[in-house]
Amino acid sequence: MPAKTIRPPVNDPSTTHRHLLGLEGMRAAAIVELLDLAETFLPVDGHPSTGGGSRHKDLLAHRTIANLFFEDSTRTRSSFTIAARRLGADTLDIASAGSSVVKGETIVDTALNLAAMGVDAFVVRCSASGGPHMIANAVSKPVINAGDGRHEHPTQGLLDLLTLRQRLGELRGKTIGIVGDVLNSRVARSDVHGLTALGCNVTLCGPPPLVPRSFEKITAAQATGRVRIAHDLDSILGELDAIIMLRVQFERSDGPALISGDYRQLYGLNASRAAQLPPHAVIMHPGPLNRGLEIDSDVADDPRRSAILQQAGNGVAVRMAVLATLLQ
Ligand code: NCD
Repeated sequence: MPAKTIRPPVNDPSTTHRHLLGLEGMRAAAIVELLDLAETFLPVDGHPSTGGGSRHKDLLAHRTIANLFFEDSTRTRSSFTIAARRLGADTLDIASAGSSVVKGETIVDTALNLAAMGVDAFVVRCSASGGPHMIANAVSKPVINAGDGRHEHPTQGLLDLLTLRQRLGELRGKTIGIVGDVLNSRVARSDVHGLTALGCNVTLCGPPPLVPRSFEKITAAQATGRVRIAHDLDSILGELDAIIMLRVQFERSDGPALISGDYRQLYGLNASRAAQLPPHAVIMHPGPLNRGLEIDSDVADDPRRSAILQQAGNGVAVRMAVLATLLQ
């Protein structure tokens, strides 16, 4: 188990502790190290004869990891819990409902109190962009961003990279489409940073109000020119090595008003559009799915093309890698 030699993914020099707050600015080498480590934790089914993390069950023994989920989640929350337990850590689950956040306590005060009780690391999801950064500035423990508002979702970015690498091999020079509600998507932002760091070209596609031109400029200077904006999905399908469909984020904006009834017709991935993708192209979606809106069931459930469940499985391995790296 090579974790001791892994360099931490320090990407916030303003704090002295090691955190994973975003993929923006992360070096390709640090990303690849995390993906390589995640691969050592696969498969994630936990069966003793297949590895699945059972070989690593003492790695984080006697450590306590708090999952602070102030926004809804199924995949991210469960896979952080499974990942922590596979490494032998204890987990503590806090949601806003049922916690003192309902009484007006700030999430920073919540974290400070849990740190005083001996919590060793914080996994934080919240609807405010920058929430995990505020906690990272206040507590002297590692903080992992599990999705903050529209900002970043770095472990989703990493699991998407791992899935793409498994399906496509070397990622440098590949063209990945990210389609839909880019404006409101933290997944899109983390994916863009991670993909461009590894040398991919990214085409962001969706209705103009949801895919602003400014997205061409969100990457690091060395990745300039790697992000392209398109509004006509049918015209880009033939050039994609993978397509990542995004959920329309009804809870986050006036999105429904912006997209009106034409969305499915213009940007939904249906069987006839999937047939226009190159035969090797991979179909992905971070979940949860709006079936019949951004993606049709026959496409999402086609095991030959769709990697959606592979993404979910890889989420456990990637989160094990992040926890092992930050907490060792
Ligand atoms: C994503 C999220 O919460 O940002 N889901 C996830 O973590 N699997 C994407 C989404 O909610 O659309």
